[in-house]
Amino acid sequence: MINPAPLVAANIPYKLVRLASGTFSVHSTAESETFHPVIGPVAEAEALYVRQLGIRERVQIHDGAFVIWDVGLGAAANVLTVLNALQDLEVSLKIISFDRTIEPLKFALNHAAELGYFAGHETLVRQFVEGESVLMQCGKIRLEWSLELGDFPAALETPRIQRLPKPSAILFDAYSPAKNPAMWTQPLFARIFSLLDPKIPCAMPTYSRSTMLRVSLLLAGFYVGVGHATGEKEETTIAANSLSLINEPLDRTWLIRARKSTSAEPLWEPNYRQAPLSDETWVKLQAHSQFQ
Ligand SMILES: C[S@@+](CC[C@H](N)C(=O)[O-])C[C@H]1O[C@@H](n2cnc3c(N)ncnc32)[C@H](O)[C@@H]1O
Repeated sequence: MINPAPLVAANIPYKLVRLASGTFSVHSTAESETFHPVIGPVAEAEALYVRQLGIRERVQIHDGAFVIWDVGLGAAANVLTVLNALQDLEVSLKIISFDRTIEPLKFALNHAAELGYFAGHETLVRQFVEGESVLMQCGKIRLEWSLELGDFPAALETPRIQRLPKPSAILFDAYSPAKNPAMWTQPLFARIFSLLDPKIPCAMPTYSRSTMLRVSLLLAGFYVGVGHATGEKEETTIAANSLSLINEPLDRTWLIRARKSTSAEPLWEPNYRQAPLSDETWVKLQAHSQFQ
């Protein structure tokens, strides 16, 4: 078969890097950030999202389409790893990906052979890149995958976001808070929480275990727990609107540690800084039902 023509990517501010694990990943030169550093895209997505969310089990007992919000589509490693984990199941999946750019995905598709995780999904991803949505069978999955292209914090304030299907899982994968503070503010997490349907249990794992993030999520209304190790990090974070989705909720021992931390106050604005808890935040934190 003739190889399809490479997709035209603008200016290519991305490169491939070989990780300590030997696998390849995408690196953004503009942000100096490597996607899924250390253990690599597939291993991280399996540990952080597929296994931690118990996604195979949840999808099978779910009525109707199981909705996933993929925040930070990037090079689609998270989405494709989820699809690989589910494609032997006759289920209906709606994935809504958010990103301000599709360039890393175009770049990655042009390097599909080195990255490996596109295997078997090249046509799907090519159609997605060209049309920003696909409706097709993926293995046994009835898949609807669409892109919300634009600034995510701004998108959260639009009427359109209210009309999107409510998620049962959120794959939250922005760049690090120091480089990408607008994606880690407390008001952003509060807005996400307010958009969830209280009748639809939803869990949101993310790779950070920082106290600042956990305080932000708790104040936003989420229950918050210790997340699975990923190989790179011995601990991550999982937030949910239902305590039943959290195996190891943060407890009062964590609360005492947070009180002493020099980096616990949420980012109220999209400027990175570190600060201990304010008195006002400390009072609100202790009142969270998770600690009662
Ligand atoms: C670490 S990468 C995501 C990697 C991806 N999940 C994967 O599996 O390949 C972070 C992504 O967040 C996106 N991002 C950062 N800030 C954003 C913003 N304000 N709005 C929307 N997307 C943003 C970046 O464009 C980038 O693609």
